[in-house]
Amino acid sequence: MLTNILRPILNRSFKPFEFIKCEDNNSFEPINLNNKDNLGLYIHIPFCKSICPFCPYNKIIYDEKLAYEYKEALLKEIKMSNTRYGKEDITSLYFGGGTPALLIDYLEEIIEKVKENFNLKGSLAIELHPSNITLELLKKLKALGFNMISVGIQSFNETCLNNLGRKSNNESEKIKLIKEVGFETIDVDLIFGIPNQTIKELKEDVKTAFDLGATQISTYPFIDFSYAKNERKPLSAKEKKEMLFELIKVSKEIGLTRTSVWTFAKPNTEKYSSITRENFIGLGPGAASLFDDKFRLNTFSVEEYTKAINKKEFPCALVLDFTKFSRKSYWLFWNVYNMSLDKEAYEKMFSGNMKKDYYLELGIAKLMGLLKENEKGYMVTTKGSYYFHGVEQIYTLQYIDKTWGIARENPWPDKIKLY
Ligand SMILES: C[S@@+](CC[C@H](N)C(=O)[O-])C[C@H]1O[C@@H](n2cnc3c(N)ncnc32)[C@H](O)[C@@H]1O
Ligand code: SF4
Repeated sequence: MLTNILRPILNRSFKPFEFIKCEDNNSFEPINLNNKDNLGLYIHIPFCKSICPFCPYNKIIYDEKLAYEYKEALLKEIKMSNTRYGKEDITSLYFGGGTPALLIDYLEEIIEKVKENFNLKGSLAIELHPSNITLELLKKLKALGFNMISVGIQSFNETCLNNLGRKSNNESEKIKLIKEVGFETIDVDLIFGIPNQTIKELKEDVKTAFDLGATQISTYPFIDFSYAKNERKPLSAKEKKEMLFELIKVSKEIGLTRTSVWTFAKPNTEKYSSITRENFIGLGPGAASLFDDKFRLNTFSVEEYTKAINKKEFPCALVLDFTKFSRKSYWLFWNVYNMSLDKEAYEKMFSGNMKKDYYLELGIAKLMGLLKENEKGYMVTTKGSYYFHGVEQIYTLQYIDKTWGIARENPWPDKIKLY
């Protein structure tokens, strides 16, 4: 397996990654964050009206009582976080899910609580399901200060949607409405490699998104998670690679900038991205936090989450302690995803020299034409992005599928080893 080869090289260790139980959930001792630059806040809303068969994310069917109890617990978690982190500057607040719009009546209260406990300085962003989108909802979001919207369109093509197991929700009209109400960033999520999808249909999806007013598309290769309920399987790796090639071509034709391996945007627009940053705090069931050398994962169970908070305990289920080198490699992974490796940013983050630390890896990648050196550091070439795309899909199935698969079955696992 590729991860078995790459892991020891990039981490300078044969040990697997190991998530262990969080043992400090009773502790309200302040945690001094070493690196507070660009600290993001993510809030997970784990409810959906119906469950899409392809979806791997942590969610349950919406229930009014459960949602109310969850909101009350979330307000407490926000306050508890303040005792740990202090009133830090937050450069963005993202609501993801699940379907955050189902809690529209609570969002104002939640945002107020965030503002009481953190200095919210940047963007306010939310993920929407097309069926949520109405003029009334969008106006409320705008009044609350949201400037970034991401819509899970998946495809504008009805047959493709049906092949994913989703019904059409008047997708085009919904994007037009978002444009009319006016938001700075409009991200459209598209899945490619859907059973029977053709390259022509994919290209039409991309063009339609921008014709209707998208400022960015996030293009996800369809991944068949082991616990998903997909009736039909994704197209092959080879077909997905051809589709990616066409995606790159069509995005060039319409003048888009490639902002990461999976995203293409109109030039000079703010990027929608909740996880590709050095540090983030995640709140809610299944949310992850990353700061300094710790990656934490909250319990996936909504009931257990609420119970823990009501006992005045943090809801963290698992923690992964990065070694010095694995933290650097994690940084490298996400920066390759963002298509550039900035030597100054690396130096600031790790007080080290990227070229020295990864002399061999960077040298080989350059020789293979995967990276190009420039005055800032390195940029990922189109060839490099194909390789990364393949690696990312393998990591998703090997690491994320395994971790989430266990965490959704067991709210408090003892440990998870990733090889
Ligand atoms: C957290 S989901 C939320 C989407 C939103 N709740 C909705 O349903 O429209 C973010 C995005 O991940 C992508 N995604 C979900 N399941 C996927 C899968 N199995 N393979 C690839 N991408 C997937 C979809 O594009 C989706 O919009
Ligand atoms: S894709 Fe969106 S609406 Fe569907 S189950 Fe996942 S989070 Fe819920």
